[in-house]
Amino acid sequence: MKIAVLGYGTVGSGVVEVVKRNYDNIAKRAREVIDIKYVLDLREFPGDPVMEVLVHDFGTIVNDPEVKVIVEVMGGVEPAYTFVKEALLKGKSVCTSNKELVAKHGAELLEIARQRNVNFLFEASVGGGIPIIRPLNQSLTADEIEEITGILNGTTNYILSKMKDEGVDFEDALKEAQEKGYAEKNPAADIEGYDACRKIAILTSLAYGMQVQYEEIPTEGITKITAADIRYADALGGSIKLFGTSKKVADKVYAYVAPKIIGSKHPLYSVNGVFNAILVRGNVLGDVMFYGSGAGKLPTASAVVSDVIDAVKHQGVNIMQLWSNKKLELEATKTLKNQFFVRVPATEREKAEKLFEIAELVTLGGLEEEFAFLTTAMKEETFEEAAAQICVINSIRAEL
Ligand code: HSE
Repeated sequence: MKIAVLGYGTVGSGVVEVVKRNYDNIAKRAREVIDIKYVLDLREFPGDPVMEVLVHDFGTIVNDPEVKVIVEVMGGVEPAYTFVKEALLKGKSVCTSNKELVAKHGAELLEIARQRNVNFLFEASVGGGIPIIRPLNQSLTADEIEEITGILNGTTNYILSKMKDEGVDFEDALKEAQEKGYAEKNPAADIEGYDACRKIAILTSLAYGMQVQYEEIPTEGITKITAADIRYADALGGSIKLFGTSKKVADKVYAYVAPKIIGSKHPLYSVNGVFNAILVRGNVLGDVMFYGSGAGKLPTASAVVSDVIDAVKHQGVNIMQLWSNKKLELEATKTLKNQFFVRVPATEREKAEKLFEIAELVTLGGLEEEFAFLTTAMKEETFEEAAAQICVINSIRAEL
């Protein structure tokens, strides 16, 4: 079996390494020896053995009948979309880690794969090395999915964990995450929550079998979280995590991305560093949790190569994935209930006590000029109305 890899960046070089390192085991699992015939990249890599298989023209790959499976790990929508579509139309299976591509064009590419009797697989697009796509497609099929909530971005979890445990500042933690190969090329994709947004869009589309427009998911990142917020969360016995969440309540589906303070009893509380975890609630199964390395070269490559093995094992057979191009109408999140942690100037205390039902006060040495508190659970729209009437230094959703 000859395969090709599009993109020799962090994940692409990881795929080459995994295929070499686990060559015999992969051959046993796939029931065929798998060799990389081409790697596509615009760059040259002098001194790297990849030069023997490096090509610069996609046509060489897509027109080679010997290549049956193509790995797309370039990232970004274009030219990935054009290449992947052409490959599927030519009857080649595609395995990708590209969440932008999957979130935007998943339904269409799955339909082409179905028509051509090949496969479009994307295990690595969510949760890095954690199996979550295959379980949703193949294991949790007896259940109605009631909720998916996950720490879906390794970079932001790494940053928040470092800020909490080592007191390092935001910029230094981000730099380290970039050096370790966790971060996206454009850090805004991680820290503004866009990456988590695409991932929860993919999971929600798969859970409900319809296309979620990720642009419609309310998305908030971690850029407004300060060292003081981290200390406050600590004082409340909690931790701040960035969550991607979707919920089905009485036939209405809600999805959003936002940071939240969670308490130590929450199942995702101890998910730290680059680790991701996804909690899925089924109506008959109850809760199930998936945990592992959410980013990085080899964990992500491991998931990509597992898809390659699946594609090789299923030649001529389309693995059914329920995701039609019918649009899933998301409900506005304004009626969802949350607790809120709120900081206002101390001078606004009286006003705050009138506007909010306060569950707990929290004080920090050195921040006596602030009045900080945790509200009882309230609707998002009620919170917004109250917050608009007072000077808020910062507010974060909470579940404590
Ligand atoms: N930048 C992403 C993350 C990579 O940090 O999780 C994996 O999708």
